[in-house]
Amino acid sequence: MTVRCLYPAEKAGEYPLSGLYLERESIRKVDAEQDSGLLIYSNFITSLDGRISLQNAVSGEFSVPGHIANRRDWRLYQELAAQADVLITSARYFRQLDKGCAQDLLPVGREDAYQDLVAWRLQQGMQAQPDVLIVSASLDIPLAALRYLEHRRIVVMTPEGCDCKRREALVAAGVQVCESGKGQVSGTDIKRLLVKLGYRSAYMIAGPAVHRTLLVDGVLDRLFLTTHFSLLGQDAFHSILQGDMQPVAARLCSLYLDEAGQQIFAQYNMEKLEKA
Ligand SMILES: NC(=O)c1ccc[n+]([C@@H]2O[C@H](COP(=O)([O-])OP(=O)(O)OC[C@H]3O[C@@H](n4cnc5c(N)ncnc54)[C@H](OP(=O)(O)O)[C@@H]3O)[C@@H](O)[C@H]2O)c1
Repeated sequence: MTVRCLYPAEKAGEYPLSGLYLERESIRKVDAEQDSGLLIYSNFITSLDGRISLQNAVSGEFSVPGHIANRRDWRLYQELAAQADVLITSARYFRQLDKGCAQDLLPVGREDAYQDLVAWRLQQGMQAQPDVLIVSASLDIPLAALRYLEHRRIVVMTPEGCDCKRREALVAAGVQVCESGKGQVSGTDIKRLLVKLGYRSAYMIAGPAVHRTLLVDGVLDRLFLTTHFSLLGQDAFHSILQGDMQPVAARLCSLYLDEAGQQIFAQYNMEKLEKA
């Protein structure tokens, strides 16, 4: 299983898919460059027409389209998760998990194919699984769904004036609840808290709203984007970003063609656009 490097030109050649994001394009190499010591990165798989999720006509739930989800991309998703001290996700994920329709269990390497990644984490002196930060305004987080996160720190960030009962229930379940901003959690506060907690790498695996929260405050450092060569259509969908914000430039760092998987793996450095 190999992929072809298309950019930068000096790295042109065929490389094994396995290890691409763990070693060749390791987040840990970028990590050291950051002033705050924390690197925040996101990852999506999208169709050519920009769909990351489609609505199921029967259940009404949104999920990653089966046409684009694939194990080659999932290996890279896992390699990025393996390097994370903490995962940033949404309350919506836990609501879906509770209904039995979430994509995964926020694991690193629960399946046999990814056991090497758990072993890698332990070799690096990391805990077996990353901690989890949940962003939510509603605090509608089914406690039963949190049982999958045993032995991991769980932090919920929510705007000021949150629902007291839901907050108390979460705290009683061992969750740390932190308030940030009015109405919406801010990306700046997310970063500040993660730095305070001593994390060095944070992997954003939620959808377009949390993505915007990080981008709008300029705290997202890297975007990993897989584009699958398919067109999906449908009006009810999510893209990688939703909501108003100032433009952000994404500078290409690496680009690999996965011919067998009919997709490209791109990595971008997020930069503020200078005003014209
Ligand atoms: N293809 C891919 O690579 C990919 C990757 C990730 C997700 N997805 C898909 O994208 C779809 C949407 O995912 P998602 O719902 O997790 O994404 P999301 O749009 O990032 O998160 C939505 C929820 O997060 C909370 N939230 C987000 N920003 C907030 C803020 N600034 N302050 C307070 N709360 C905030 C809210 O929770 P409350 O409602 O609790 O207030 C909101 O309902 C799903 O179908 C998922 O499967 C696809």
